[in-house]
Amino acid sequence: DSPLREHAEARGKFIGAALATGPLASESAYRDIAGGEFNQITAENAMKWTDTEPSPNQFTWAGADAIVDFATQNDQQVHGHTLVWHNQTPDWVQSLGADAMRAAMQNHIAKVVGRYASNPTVVSWDVVNEVFDDNGTMRTSFWYQKLGESYIADAFRAARAADPDARLCINDYNVEGVNAKSTAMYNLVRSLRAADVPVDCVGFQGHLAIQYGFPGQVQENLQRFADLGVQVRFTEIDIRMQTPRDATKDALQATYYTNVVKACLAVPQCAGITLWGFTDRYSWVPDTFSGQGAALIYDENYAAKPAYTAVHDALAGG
Ligand code: G3I
Repeated sequence: DSPLREHAEARGKFIGAALATGPLASESAYRDIAGGEFNQITAENAMKWTDTEPSPNQFTWAGADAIVDFATQNDQQVHGHTLVWHNQTPDWVQSLGADAMRAAMQNHIAKVVGRYASNPTVVSWDVVNEVFDDNGTMRTSFWYQKLGESYIADAFRAARAADPDARLCINDYNVEGVNAKSTAMYNLVRSLRAADVPVDCVGFQGHLAIQYGFPGQVQENLQRFADLGVQVRFTEIDIRMQTPRDATKDALQATYYTNVVKACLAVPQCAGITLWGFTDRYSWVPDTFSGQGAALIYDENYAAKPAYTAVHDALAGG
């Protein structure tokens, strides 16, 4: 049957995957699925600060360019991830004083976004990532501690200046349903836009787990953000389980994938769905959650799982 991307295109949505540069360089099976099934690509790590600016104003583009080149060859778009985050940011940034930190942030955004500003493959950016704690208060990251909340508006303004045509997103996890954290996100996006800060898009990561239940009111949550005038999207979907897999867990996982795709299809301002990888051969989950995994739509040997069929059928369905 047709690949996921054909069905997604027919619905006016993207279907994406995060890619790792290692297997992209070394495994043809990885490349074939990545290029054939998806029409949007995110760099799992290669565009993060540690990778792109390991030393002050010394930029390294090999990984980021490999992702962009692959996407261009396969007629895919790239969603840039991520400009300002509290993880995978070099120590030299974290030890700067306030004025120097703000200047370093603005320079980083100008250089990274600027490199691809005239490249039609790169269409959007996660400008700030994970600014909230789960209770909905601001995360007390080094950014927040040194600069206060103003770093968020400054980051968006710097990104807009570097590429007036790129779609600029704020991205977080545990905000898929209606809850305290997503309501805090909602209030922040509303107040930023009221202050003419160029926030175009909200990314809902979607790192879910079958043992925790499917979040409540996902479609309603997407819709309330859309009603603020922003585009919405799922940016990092994976749905983990206690390993080993079995048919029951696979079936439940498949229903969660169906729910995610259907929620996006039901909201016109939902641009698409990106998975955080595509094969259980390469996933951050087992390294982070002991005893959990099998979160993606292909198994370790690149065989499609029930979750693949779920995504396919939801995209293809009427
Ligand atoms: O690059 C080094 C390599 O030199 C070294 O040999 C190796 C040894 O473990 O580590 C490599 O770095 C790892 C890096 O991934 C690249 O593989 C880091 O230790 C590891 O911490 C890092 O994990 C990434 C994680 O973000 C960091 O927070 C995951 O791959 C990546 O999937 C994950 O992605 C995040 C999103 O960016 C934001 N949302 C949550 C999501 C999942 O945590």
